[in-house]
Amino acid sequence: MEAGKLQLDPQEVDLEKLLADSLFMFKEKAMKHRLQMKTAFENLPERIQADERSLKQILYNLLSNAVKFTPDGGQISLRAIKTASFNNGQRRAAVEISVTDSGIGITPEELGRIFKPFEQAETSSSRRYQGTGLGLSLTKHLIELHGGKIWATSGGTGKGSAFHFILPIQSGLLGPKQPSVSHESAPSHDPRLPA
Ligand SMILES: Nc1ncnc2c1ncn2[C@@H]1O[C@H](COP(=O)(O)OP(=O)(O)OP(=O)(O)O)[C@@H](O)[C@H]1O
Ligand SMILES: [Mg+2]
Repeated sequence: MEAGKLQLDPQEVDLEKLLADSLFMFKEKAMKHRLQMKTAFENLPERIQADERSLKQILYNLLSNAVKFTPDGGQISLRAIKTASFNNGQRRAAVEISVTDSGIGITPEELGRIFKPFEQAETSSSRRYQGTGLGLSLTKHLIELHGGKIWATSGGTGKGSAFHFILPIQSGLLGPKQPSVSHESAPSHDPRLPA
């Protein structure tokens, strides 16, 4: 990641399915810890342009944090809504995705640090939570490669956290529109017709 060698493979992604599948991965863990999982998807486009693997990684990181930092019996919600983002004064269709939890929360000072590599809110040797502190920095990097942005909010210690990110629907990752395949590979005459 540091060397800028992360390779994206942009494609058309069924966003709602990807979100539902991501949440499903945590179903067992949520049941074990009596975590209530909610979803709200509003007005989503059927497909967005994105690197599917990165998008799965982003959701996995945010949801695993929500599950890890929320005590038993809490709530986690995954919301997605169609919105617009502005880049150099240009309006672009986008989606805003939020992972909200009722967990341990984040102090204002910590909010400024957690997206940096190896930063963890509580660094004492008696730390209760496992991890390397790389999840959010990778997540931020992947979102920015898509032309998006991420931010976090929290009511403070014990008051839960929310991570929001915006992804343009047309990330621009696919580059200029390619000529259609049939056109590109058209034989010199239509094979269905006699030569
Ligand atoms: N949902 C959350 N609630 C409270 N604190 C959080 C939440 N998500 C992240 N944090 C804080 O931000 C820190 C950095 O998160 P990050 O995902 O980068 O690292 P990690 O989860 O500790 O380790 P890793 O993701 O590499 O396994 C966490 O250690 C934690 O202190
Ligand atoms: Mg993490």
